[in-house]
Order: sequence, then C-alpha cells, then structure tokens
Amino acid sequence: MTSLLTALERDRPIGVFDSGLGGLTVAAALARRLPSESILYFGDTARVPYGSKSPDVVRRFSRQAARLLLSRDVKLLVVACNTATAHAEEALRQELEVPVVGVIEPGASAAVEATRTGRIGVLGTSGTIGSGAYDLALRRRLGEDGRVYAQPCPLFVPLVEEGWIDHPVTRAVAAEYLRPLEEVDVDVVILGCTHYPLLRGLLQDQVGSDVRLVDSGEETATAVARILADRRMARTDGPPVHSFLVSDSPLKFREFGTRATHGLVVDVSHVDIDGFGLHTERLENG
Ligand code: DGL
Repeated sequence: MTSLLTALERDRPIGVFDSGLGGLTVAAALARRLPSESILYFGDTARVPYGSKSPDVVRRFSRQAARLLLSRDVKLLVVACNTATAHAEEALRQELEVPVVGVIEPGASAAVEATRTGRIGVLGTSGTIGSGAYDLALRRRLGEDGRVYAQPCPLFVPLVEEGWIDHPVTRAVAAEYLRPLEEVDVDVVILGCTHYPLLRGLLQDQVGSDVRLVDSGEETATAVARILADRRMARTDGPPVHSFLVSDSPLKFREFGTRATHGLVVDVSHVDIDGFGLHTERLENG
C-alpha cells in the first residue's frame, strides 16, 4: 500500500509557471534533464509581460498561478519567470506546501562556479534587474572582491516574440545593451530572462567566445532533479504526460511552442485566471 501511494505521489506532475511562452525554455530544459517527469505548465499569456510591472502586481499574479497549479496537484513548483522569481519566490516558498524552485539562485550559483575573475554580468527585464535579486544572490556567494554588473534589456522580449532571433535589428540592440558589460570586462554573463536563451548564438557572437553565458533555466532543471532525488519524489521511468494552460487564446502559444520546443507542446488549453484563488485570506492579505 505504502509503495503504491509513493508511486502515485511520484507520478504527480511538476508545475511550471511563467508570464507567457518564454518559460518554455525552462520546461524544455526540465524535459531534457528529467525525461520521465510530467510537466503541467501555466503561461499567463493574457497578462504578459511581467517584466515591466510593479512587484505587488507580479506577486499577485504569481500567487494566482501557483494556486492554479496546486489545485491540479503538482508535486513541486518551478517559477520559470525570472521577474516572478525576483518578486514572489520568497512569498510562495513561505505560503505553499510543496517545494518551490525559482530560477535566480540556480543561475547565480552556476555563474559563481564558472567565473575566474569574479566579474559577472546579468541581463534581465527591468523588473528583475530593478529588484536587485541577482545582485544579492551573486554578492552573497562572491564576497567582497566580486563585481556584479546588471543590465536591463527590455527590448529583447518583444524581439524574440516577433521571431527576430537572428536579425540585424536584434544585433544592433544587443550591441547597445552589451557594450557596458564589455567595457568592464566580465567573464560570465547570466541570461536572466526566459527569452534570452533563444538569443544565445547572437549574444555569444556579441560578447565573444571567452565569455561564458549561463542559462538560468538549464541550471534550474539541475536543481529540480537534485531536490526530487533527495526527497525520493523523482519519477524515473515511463513516458511523461505534458499539459499546457494559458490565460489567453492557445493559438499563438501552440504555434510558438511547437517551434521552440520541438514537439513538447501539443496539449494546450485555455484557463480563466482572473480572480482565481483570490478568495483565501492569505492571498488577500499578502
Ligand atoms: N518571463 C519573463 C522573465 O523571465 C520575461 C517576459 C515578461 O516580461 O513577462 O523575466
């Protein structure tokens, strides 16, 4: 009986949420790292972007997303969105009964392991960079001598969503954003936004091959694998079942998702997020 229950527990999906479709880079990394784990993904496509919104609003949206996924019985929650991690991870960890994994700590930890000079650059949305969350996570690990150079890159998200992945305009924007980091000679740059791994080739060309790019999503998948193994919650055999929920029409998500994840995104449905979960006292007070 106990082992049957444990098996059922292990079969529960990993919940992943993001402001929209960018978090599919994190879902894809999870699927590569943990091929038998099912993923239940929520993309808040009706309210994207989070990167330009205030911390309070992002926290409220994140709580709703988390409650939605918990109501569908996920065993662990991945906050795939860097901006949501920056503003809401701590609150979610305190409030929820499942493990919560954000993308910032794993990204910062990998960057500190990779640097030889202690000079690290971070790229992110205005919200993520403004929150100082990467800065804090890096400085805690680097100590006094470390240097962190943070650069908001708000134009990258719309450019990626437009499909301008290898486009002269995106190259010109990248040159502008990355110039300050080149001037201070960083040796590691964190891709601190869900969309930036899709610009990896272009960004690597810009910073040169001596600079190591760290993908927070990939590092998060490794952190999730470790947590599930430690808690004996990992599903290690059998095919997974992936499902995707979105708050706007599934059409664009399905189209982008099929292209960006090579077949991971198939089953996409709409869910009404307005007002979801706002009835509990904690949510109203938070
Ligand atoms: N998912 C967001 C992040 O990683 C980028 C898109 C947005 O601004 O909502 O910060």
